[in-house]
Amino acid sequence: MNLKSTKNQTKKEIEKAKSLSDLDNIFKKYLGKKGLLRTEFLKIKKLSKKEKIRIGKELNTLRVFLQKEIAKKAKEFRRKELSKQEKEEEFDITLPGKKIEFGHLHPLTLVQREIAGIFQSMGFEVVEGPEIETEWYNFDALNIPEDHPARVALSLGKTFYLKGGGLMRTHTSCAQIHYMEKNNPPLRIIVPGKVFRAEATDASHETNFYQIEGLMVGRDVSAANFKAVIQKFLEEFFKTSIKIKLRPSYFPFTEPSFELDMKCTVCAGKGCSACKYSGWIELLGAGMVHPNVLKNGGLNPKNWQGFAFGMSLDRLTMMKYKINDIRLFHSGDLRFLKQF
Ligand code: DAH
Repeated sequence: MNLKSTKNQTKKEIEKAKSLSDLDNIFKKYLGKKGLLRTEFLKIKKLSKKEKIRIGKELNTLRVFLQKEIAKKAKEFRRKELSKQEKEEEFDITLPGKKIEFGHLHPLTLVQREIAGIFQSMGFEVVEGPEIETEWYNFDALNIPEDHPARVALSLGKTFYLKGGGLMRTHTSCAQIHYMEKNNPPLRIIVPGKVFRAEATDASHETNFYQIEGLMVGRDVSAANFKAVIQKFLEEFFKTSIKIKLRPSYFPFTEPSFELDMKCTVCAGKGCSACKYSGWIELLGAGMVHPNVLKNGGLNPKNWQGFAFGMSLDRLTMMKYKINDIRLFHSGDLRFLKQF
């Protein structure tokens, strides 16, 4: 083997190499186990000591040369490969980023929490009651007699009776009894929750809606206390001064019973479409808890008295956000929901 021409030959081959695998082949050809250089190394065994040293040295120089050249070229390839990759991965930091979409609370939840917060600030506890009820809790315990039209269909709504017995509660008032059974007065609670009525749905009626029940019981809790609490609540909720009036009404579970109207905040009582040109908005039912109801909750009406009220969360939410159709709440319509 002519070392000089071999050196030139390898140099050319390395220069011509187009890829790492070309280099690999060159490496195998000269430096591999069966490579040319190795064969040459084996040959020198038979030479004289002097020759061995000379040729050995030359072969070694060639080996080092080859290793260096191949490594140099390989490095070049790798650098090219890397910069190609970098170019592919390159991104424009001035491009606007992908927007992460956050969910948010439903308007009914927002208002429920706000209302709860106001009552909590007045010392009321927020509690829940079951949505599936017995006739006892939904009617009897609330002093609603068996032949009362509410139990069949009318004034309090049409009841969804369940096949296996029981019913979907038609109001949150049943929670009053559950709470009285388990707690000793003085009591101060609100009960937000879902109620169910077999209604023909329209812009102001739904088969599912939400109520907020209130109950305050003590030694001398009066209707005046009710007026003060509810007035404060409404002013905090609507963030303006509010005029209210109580109208005599009838509920089996309160005596006396009243309905509360609020002077229309849209027209200041002058009359507009929001208040159906009456100047007043009907807001909620209330009254002094009927002695029979206290008894059914395990309290002695001789020692305890208080007020209760029930209002529609959907209605308050509609008033607050000027929503004109109750069905929007359960519509799942994002054009509606995204506004809150
Ligand atoms: N439960 C009544 C309804 O669903 C609302 C109500 C009226 C609740 C008077 C009360 C109350 O606690 O005192 O229409």
